[in-house]
Amino acid sequence: MNILVLGSGGREHTLTWKLAQSPLLHNLYVAPGNAGTASIATNIAMNVNDFEAIGNFSKENQIDIVVVGPEDPLVNGIHDYFLHDEALQGIHVIGPQKEAAELEGSKEFAKQFMMRHNIPTAAYQSFTKDTVEAGCEFLTTLQSPYVLKADGLAAGKGVLIIKDLQEAQDSLREMLVDAKFGDASTKVVIEEFLDGIELSCFVLTDGKNYLTLPTAKDYKRIGEGDTGLNTGGMGAVSPVPFADAEFMEKIETRIIQPTIEGFQKDNLPYKGFVFIGLIKVGNDPFVIEYNVRMGDPETEVVIPRLENDLAAIFQAVGNQTLDKISLQIKEEAATTIMVVSGGYPEAYEKGKEITGIENIEDSIVFHAGTKLTDGKVVTNGGRVLAVTSHANTYEEAIKKSYQNIKKLHFDKMYYRKDIGFDL
Ligand code: AMP
Ligand code: GLY
Repeated sequence: MNILVLGSGGREHTLTWKLAQSPLLHNLYVAPGNAGTASIATNIAMNVNDFEAIGNFSKENQIDIVVVGPEDPLVNGIHDYFLHDEALQGIHVIGPQKEAAELEGSKEFAKQFMMRHNIPTAAYQSFTKDTVEAGCEFLTTLQSPYVLKADGLAAGKGVLIIKDLQEAQDSLREMLVDAKFGDASTKVVIEEFLDGIELSCFVLTDGKNYLTLPTAKDYKRIGEGDTGLNTGGMGAVSPVPFADAEFMEKIETRIIQPTIEGFQKDNLPYKGFVFIGLIKVGNDPFVIEYNVRMGDPETEVVIPRLENDLAAIFQAVGNQTLDKISLQIKEEAATTIMVVSGGYPEAYEKGKEITGIENIEDSIVFHAGTKLTDGKVVTNGGRVLAVTSHANTYEEAIKKSYQNIKKLHFDKMYYRKDIGFDL
């Protein structure tokens, strides 16, 4: 099999690392990849949204499966592009078509989907420029804090949680009238605030059958104690200790099953990952959001716990034979700690030489924002490396990652020292 992975982060290095272990594999390519993927596969300099280049490359290199890492190309319709080209339609694309990708691309689409299929989520209403005053009025009927969500993709920055009513109303006007998030905030979803602890569950579906992957919890804020700005994620733990069998059963019956059945009822073909962001309120799960891809850094803890052959699993997704596969998951916990560039998630410098990777023992270093320059691994992004460890308990695994991180070095390197603190 020849496989092409699209993306360049820690998620893609992890998927590539796992695929590279498959005996079914012949050639493995990553576009554009990073210094980590370059060491185990062939990096191809292609933009993930350049469908023509990706299509041509896939034809020329007899690609069998394209694994789409990030959401952008899915929301832009890469799967549809392949289906509409006779020479490409036999290639399995892992990731939904454009219409179902709206589950991530539009908060309102996701809310309507959940309402239609009775999937528990926060009550909401959505507003546009023309109904901004009704939106301000609606806010007065809710309790503080107020949750405002830009409808479209806003690079993880489109959700505001505001305590003060006046401030929430001002922000609503900024989003709708002053286009605070550009086109993404042409519509705004206002929803009820849910108070609880967050976790994520991951499902892989072929549109008919599905497999539930391990749960994970990520740490989104830059600062210790979950303070400061939001990031892509600073660390993750799997499994989530508070998601016991009884709670998982609720997630399965109230959320996962109606979601997969919902795809079929709504005639939304879906082959790929569904990342369900959940919040546990009391003892009940509610959906915060859907993503149509794996999480990053959640992938760095979920995929290493998988014992199955990932290439075989993706093939089964393509052939709609996922019912033939039974998942084998390592009992051990996995944790990952993100090592980032000083300044991230605001401005940071790139091109800093990274040393010490070769001294890591008993942890796996997944590359995120790295590249090779003159044979040296240098920083090339905000999130630079994810250090993943396994152990019997998540506490021991975290300890291993921290011991290994001490051996790494680059100028202005930063990481959170409290991953797992709240568990
Ligand atoms: P989202 O982009 O929808 O995942 O929202 C980003 C973050 O905002 C989530 O991870 C939650 O921490 C928080 N959030 C979103 N919606 C709600 C809600 N209804 N109640 C409480 N927190 C929320
Ligand atoms: N870590 C959160 C995400 O991938 O969206």
